[in-house]
Parts: sequence; C-alpha cells; structure tokens
Amino acid sequence: MTIGFSIALIVFVSISSVFLMNADDLIMKNTNDNIEHLKNIDENDHAEIYSGQTEGDMVLTPLQKELLYKGPKHRTGLVNLTRKWTNNEIPYKIAKGNFSWLQEQFIILATKKLMEVSCIKFVPYDEDYHKNYISIVGQFAGCFSQVGMIGGRQILNLAPSEIGVACFKFYSIVHELIHALGFAHMHCASERDEYIEVIEENILANQSHNFQKYSNNVITQFGIDYDYGSVMHYPAKAFSKNNQSTLIPLKSLNGVEMGQRQRLSDSDIARINAKYC
Ligand SMILES: *[C@@H]1O[C@H](CO)[C@@H](O)[C@H](O)[C@H]1NC(C)=O
Ligand SMILES: *[C@@H]1O[C@H](CO)[C@@H](O)[C@H](O)[C@H]1NC(C)=O
Ligand SMILES: *[C@@H]1O[C@H](CO)[C@@H](O)[C@H](O)[C@H]1NC(C)=O
Ligand SMILES: *[C@@H]1O[C@H](CO)[C@@H](O)[C@H](O)[C@H]1NC(C)=O
Repeated sequence: MTIGFSIALIVFVSISSVFLMNADDLIMKNTNDNIEHLKNIDENDHAEIYSGQTEGDMVLTPLQKELLYKGPKHRTGLVNLTRKWTNNEIPYKIAKGNFSWLQEQFIILATKKLMEVSCIKFVPYDEDYHKNYISIVGQFAGCFSQVGMIGGRQILNLAPSEIGVACFKFYSIVHELIHALGFAHMHCASERDEYIEVIEENILANQSHNFQKYSNNVITQFGIDYDYGSVMHYPAKAFSKNNQSTLIPLKSLNGVEMGQRQRLSDSDIARINAKYC
C-alpha cells in the first residue's frame, strides 16, 4: 500500500513534469481567512500576499515547486524554471467580460510601463500567430501569476476591484506581470540571509513555507544586487500573525521602503533588461 502510493506519487511527479498541466488545475483554492482579509485590505498591505498560492501569488508547476527550493540535483539541464519569452514578446489576452473598460485600460497601462523601461513587448494575442500567451482573467480571489513562459495558455489573475485598490493597485499589476516575465520574489533570493532576517515566531500558522530560500542554482539575479526597494520584495509584516515584523532588514535601507508598490526600482529595471535586452 505504502509502496504503491510512493510509486503512484513518483509516476505522478514524473508525468506532470513531462506534460504540461492545464493552467487552471495548478491554481490552489484560496483560504477563507485570506478571502476575508482581501475584503477590506489596508492600503499599505498588498493583495497578492493573500492570494493563496506559493509565496502568496506564484502559481507554480509541480516541477517548478520541486526545483525552486531543492535545486536540480539529478536533473540538471532538463529544465528552465523561469523561461524567457521567445523574441522578448509576450502575447496577452484579457478575458472578455471579466473586467470593466477602465480596469482593462489600467492593465494595458501596466504592460506599457514595463515596455517603457525595457525591450520587452506585450502584444495582443492572435491565435493565428501565437502559441504561448498569458490569459489575464479576473475569475478567482486575489492576484497571482504563473512564473516565466510556461507554454500554451498560462494564467494571470487579478480579482476585479476599484482602480488603485487591492489587485488593481497599479504596481501590484506590474508585480504580477514581472512574475509572468519569469522573476520570483526578492525576499526568497538565495543570498537573502545577508540582507534580511526572517522572524519565525511572528509568522501566521502554516505560512512559514512562504519564507523558504531559493536554491542558488535555479534562480539567478543576473548579477544585480539584492534590493529592499524592489517591487518584488514583500513588506516587513507579510504573513504576520501579530502585526510584528516577519522580515527585518539587516542593513541600512538607505531611504527606500521595503515592500513598496509605488514604482519600479532601478534594480527591477536592470534585472528585466539583463534577462531580455
Ligand atoms: C535558462 O534561461 C536563461 C535565461 O533565459 C538562459 O540564460 C539559460 O541558458 C537557460 N538555461 C537552460 C538550461 O536552458
Ligand atoms: C471570464 O473569462 C473566462 C475565460 O475567458 C470566461 O470563461 C468567463 O465566462 C469570463 N467571465 C465573465 C463574467 O464574463
Ligand atoms: C495548519 O495545518 C494543519 C495541518 O495541515 C491543520 O490541521 C491546521 O488546521 C492548520 N492551522 C491553521 C491555523 O490553518
Ligand atoms: C500595526 O502596527 C502599526 C504600527 O506599526 C499601526 O499603525 C497599526 O494600526 C497596527 N495595526 C493593527 C491591526 O494593530
């Protein structure tokens, strides 16, 4: 029975790493606590943290999940965790009926922000030309994205809300688009222990897994330094159970706000350019 189960598990993991799963099947159901929290979220808090996926808002394939924290070990070369989009071109399709005209314009504005600072091109999906694309939907609670070009249709979800609030905070949309470009979170970077301390006793029950460190041989920062001010950094009180810090900076912040969602930092722009341009 146990052996049978183990074999079944191995077969499942192997099959799912070879064949692509339907994007929707990878989405985890958000918790009721998170959904409650999202309903009246504070403006300094970020909706993407309470979205019920890996580290809050990353929808990962089983293989990405396995490799991100454990490293390639015996499977080197097979995989690229955070695949680049072909020709720096990211086709996207905003799902019909999911957003208001204004919300749709706001999403397009976020794609333009990233195009302004790099060579990447977000282009409307055309089924005659594009095989791989981001399907931008507003069907689930919270905001989340798949990470890197997955192949075929992949998901980026933004729960509809008033402009500037929750998932429709401009730089939360940009944050999700940067995940789609293939970048993960700053606070989990393999070198993060030099920069932040994770305070376990302040983390919500069952949320410690959101603070795991990435294996250094699957995620690269493209030689660009750790940055407290990255739009991909989580704030000091992310996943806090007691309104005390879960992340404490070990160096001077030099005037930047850790976990800000007001701008792209110079290092965010540099990393995108290093990967694509
Ligand atoms: C993974 O992607 C990076 C960036 O696109 C590229 O430099 C690297 O060669 C790729 N690695 C493999 C094993 O394909
Ligand atoms: C949102 O988009 C999805 C995918 O295209 C579609 O199935 C669904 O009906 C849309 N929702 C609404 C409310 O139109
Ligand atoms: C934490 O996870 C355990 C085991 O999965 C579960 O029994 C428990 O209810 C969870 N606690 C909270 C506060 O979600
Ligand atoms: C959490 O602490 C901040 C000060 O660090 C305070 O402004 C805020 O009201 C507190 N929130 C709660 C829910 O206690």
